[in-house]
Amino acid sequence: MAVGPRLHLHDHVTTVRTASLAISPLTADDAAGIEARYLLLRAAYDVDLPADPLSRVDVTSELAFAFPGARRTQVLARLDGEVVASGVLGLPQLDNTGSAMVDVVVHPAHRRRGIGRQVLDHLVGLARAADRVRVLAEVQIGPADPDGPPTPGAAFAAAAGAAQVLVDVRRRLDLTRVDDARLDALLAAAEAHSPGYHVVRWSRVAPDALVDGLVTLESRMSIDPPMGDMAWEPEHHDTARWRAAEVAAIGRQRTSYGAAVVHDATGDVAGYTMCALDADVPEHAWQWATIVLPDHRGHRLGLRLKADMLRRLRTELPDLRTFDTWNAADNTHMIAVNAELGFEPLDRWAEVQLDLT
Ligand code: ACO
Repeated sequence: MAVGPRLHLHDHVTTVRTASLAISPLTADDAAGIEARYLLLRAAYDVDLPADPLSRVDVTSELAFAFPGARRTQVLARLDGEVVASGVLGLPQLDNTGSAMVDVVVHPAHRRRGIGRQVLDHLVGLARAADRVRVLAEVQIGPADPDGPPTPGAAFAAAAGAAQVLVDVRRRLDLTRVDDARLDALLAAAEAHSPGYHVVRWSRVAPDALVDGLVTLESRMSIDPPMGDMAWEPEHHDTARWRAAEVAAIGRQRTSYGAAVVHDATGDVAGYTMCALDADVPEHAWQWATIVLPDHRGHRLGLRLKADMLRRLRTELPDLRTFDTWNAADNTHMIAVNAELGFEPLDRWAEVQLDLT
């Protein structure tokens, strides 16, 4: 474990000073700190993810409207009073209680001076204090071409001793290039292959009649898709968690769109897909989960769900231009569906994992 000798235990309510770097918790009532963090992320996105939108509304409401299932701590690192780095720690509470999620971002003007390492050490200290035995992070590792140059994040994670345990490819759909006649034909063909099912659509709040089925499907999202070598246990999902996530998303002014396929004969919620948009970024949508129950696979329900959603988005959201989805690099079925709809590889990400034992 490469970061071990550098670790120190820190109480998360105190400010920690190393040389002139001060690391302090960020709280929901600290409007100036929250704005400073947004500006830091904005500067980092300009360098690291120039093709990505960054929602000010979403970033500035993260602390006030946290998603359920994990306790989150944000810290800011200041150098002579200037915010130079952000750190986030997530401690799952309902499952995966041996794991912590971390995220470190350093302002581009302050990189390669050991700041990222100090913030990571701080977060690892907090994770250890909460009895976590590993930390995990999501990091952009390179362009779509696997032979392309690695990102600073990939180099940083490797230097910390973290292993890449799952590689994801992000694909982007350019909606200005979607051929509507072809989309209609795909949807019609998928419907023809799945008689005996109907689609139910919603926005923001799922219908009561579907929620039990949706929770079952959501639970399978941590079992069915490829998980590589990630030490990730099946997640615990229930109605309360689902509804709390909807409340958090609404608080963050995200508009979510959902579609489920229901089996006429049994009433089973056989599959669902969801995506969401941030309030201040009407041109971009983020794909959330898509899953079909094993007993209902083989009827083109995945394609039907996603084509149905795309048809709806094109009708209801005329400003939408781009739509992003992440898939494990070896999730061949889901990737085939996305490719058929016109999604194209954009970049590669990895789940990285650092064991603390
Ligand atoms: N190229 C090669 N190696 C690098 C690079 C790079 N660009 N950046 C960091 N490293 C490695 C080096 O081994 C470095 O040690 P050295 O400088 O003694 O050679 C070691 O990582 C520690 O580097 P720091 O100076 O502590 O890192 P920095 O303050 O520059 O922050 C970070 C690195 C966080 C990756 C920054 O580039 C960034 O914000 N990137 C965008 C967001 C991101 O990818 N975050 C990391 C996600 S993974 C995680 O949170 C655990």
